Amino acid sequence: MEIEKRFSKMSKRMRSSIIRELLRDATNTSIISFGGGAPDPETFDREALSKLSQEVLTNEYQYALQYGATEGDPILKDEFIKILKERHGITGLEHDNLLITVGSQQALDLMGRIFLDEDSYVMVSHPIYLGAASAFRAYGPKFITIDLEEDGLNINQVESALKDLDKKGEISKLKFIYTVPNFHNPAGVTMSLEKRKALIELAHKYDVLILEDDPYGELRYEGERLPDIYYLAKGEGVMLLNTMSKIMSPGIRIGMIAGDKQVVAKAALAKQGADLCTPTFTQRLVARYLQQGTIFNKVNEAIEVYRKKKNLMLDALQKYVTVEGAKWTKPEGGLFIWVTLPEKYDTMKLFEEAKKVGVAYIPGAAFYVDDRTSSDLRLSFCLPPEDQIEEGIKRIAKLL
Ligand SMILES: Cc1ncc(COP(=O)(O)O)c(C=O)c1O
Repeated sequence: MEIEKRFSKMSKRMRSSIIRELLRDATNTSIISFGGGAPDPETFDREALSKLSQEVLTNEYQYALQYGATEGDPILKDEFIKILKERHGITGLEHDNLLITVGSQQALDLMGRIFLDEDSYVMVSHPIYLGAASAFRAYGPKFITIDLEEDGLNINQVESALKDLDKKGEISKLKFIYTVPNFHNPAGVTMSLEKRKALIELAHKYDVLILEDDPYGELRYEGERLPDIYYLAKGEGVMLLNTMSKIMSPGIRIGMIAGDKQVVAKAALAKQGADLCTPTFTQRLVARYLQQGTIFNKVNEAIEVYRKKKNLMLDALQKYVTVEGAKWTKPEGGLFIWVTLPEKYDTMKLFEEAKKVGVAYIPGAAFYVDDRTSSDLRLSFCLPPEDQIEEGIKRIAKLL
């Protein structure tokens, strides 16, 4: 049977994650990898989770080993609503405002599934989180790309893109503006308060939905916490995505969408066809874990680990990278530093050379939705042990 010609249009739009391809042979231990965005496993609260797993399986097997509601575990929803209130100041959320998803990656896919058609537009930052680009791309929309600055999206570009669409009579085809306001992946930058407010104002003026994706907000190492876009907009026209991946465990695969009940209900409908429900076992485990009230003590420990690693990397960059015109972001949180080299460098080509000298990073081209070459690269400081950070940067610097 000739399989290839039977695949759907959607499947033909899908692309393998370039990060996976690049890192496939960079996982051996002789390579210092600044590649993946996985948290440091030493930060996982394994003893507590192991004990709770046993308890959940023994005492709550009737729930935790059974199918569950597509919308999610009500006990976990209670805990999320509590966190959103206590840590984000978001009040008034009910169970129907929340959908529990298999990581926030599923939430991105569901948002694509319920909003995007082939004639839709979606507004995104450039660079963009690769997983969001792949989730949205499958549905065939056109990307409107907005440059990222030190303090977040270039708001002038947002405004003129909105104006242009409006003039063309196509503003209703712009389904949402996707943004990662805190410690952007890959760029490491955080959107300023002024820009958050300006973005809301523009989105409200043109009646466009904002999709706020915030996996890193709790991983702040310096500076003042900024209010969520969702909070500032009083929930009006904003859907908020969150996840346990970076603060508890990515393997547990628990994320969520919060916001408008109609959107949540439609996303739940789409989720039914995808997987019926998020695994009940991990939902209940996370719910019981959150009830213990210790998670943010553990997050504070992780923050200490990451702050130190981030500073080691910034110090090493400062000390060894002497290429004129090279610059890099100085993130106040999250897991990534974004390095911009002079244009003559093609970081995709350089990647092969880097591997030969035993160091890996992600070339910037991976984070653009067009086929450009790029002199940017993403460095992740979370996974390598401290003593390898300086050595890895030294190797990159020598190569440059
Ligand atoms: C910006 C952003 N959104 C969403 C995700 C997906 O995370 P998860 O599906 O593990 O919640 C990631 C993961 O790296 C991310 O960086």
